[in-house]
Amino acid sequence: MLKKKMLKALNNQINAELYSSYLYLSMESYFQSVSLSGFAGWMRGQVQEELFHGMKFYDFVNERGGRVTLDSIAKPDADWKTPLAAFEHILKHEQMVTSMINDLMDLAIAEQDHATKIFLQWFVSEQVEEEASVGEVVDKLRLIKNESSGLFFLDAEMSKRVFTLPE
Ligand code: FEO
Repeated sequence: MLKKKMLKALNNQINAELYSSYLYLSMESYFQSVSLSGFAGWMRGQVQEELFHGMKFYDFVNERGGRVTLDSIAKPDADWKTPLAAFEHILKHEQMVTSMINDLMDLAIAEQDHATKIFLQWFVSEQVEEEASVGEVVDKLRLIKNESSGLFFLDAEMSKRVFTLPE
């Protein structure tokens, strides 16, 4: 059985993951509007991945006998000045999610909730990967400096991403 404080924090994380999905969906629309379909497709993968994260928390709360309560999802930004600005935004966002996961882990340790600690371990590793993959695109976009041929080339590379559900 989940303790009250832990349940509240896990419910809050479901909202954060669903917001992440919503943010990536808004970015997909932005990239479609500037005809960068490879970036837009990459965003679709993120939309699915964040939904998967949210559902992973949802199922865990249920498995532990907790009640999932859904809150409203905040409105995401709709426009960014450049692809680099969009990716800098999501890098910052993922860093914030990492700190939320770390706070959840700290709480699970304080509450001696061993099952939640083991569950969260997957997310600790996942965030290392998330920050690395977004950070790599930020670095490439900084090199390109919004120059069109570089963007065109990177867009083609981004289109190769195939989303598969994590294990
Ligand atoms: Fe679910 Fe990108 O953090």
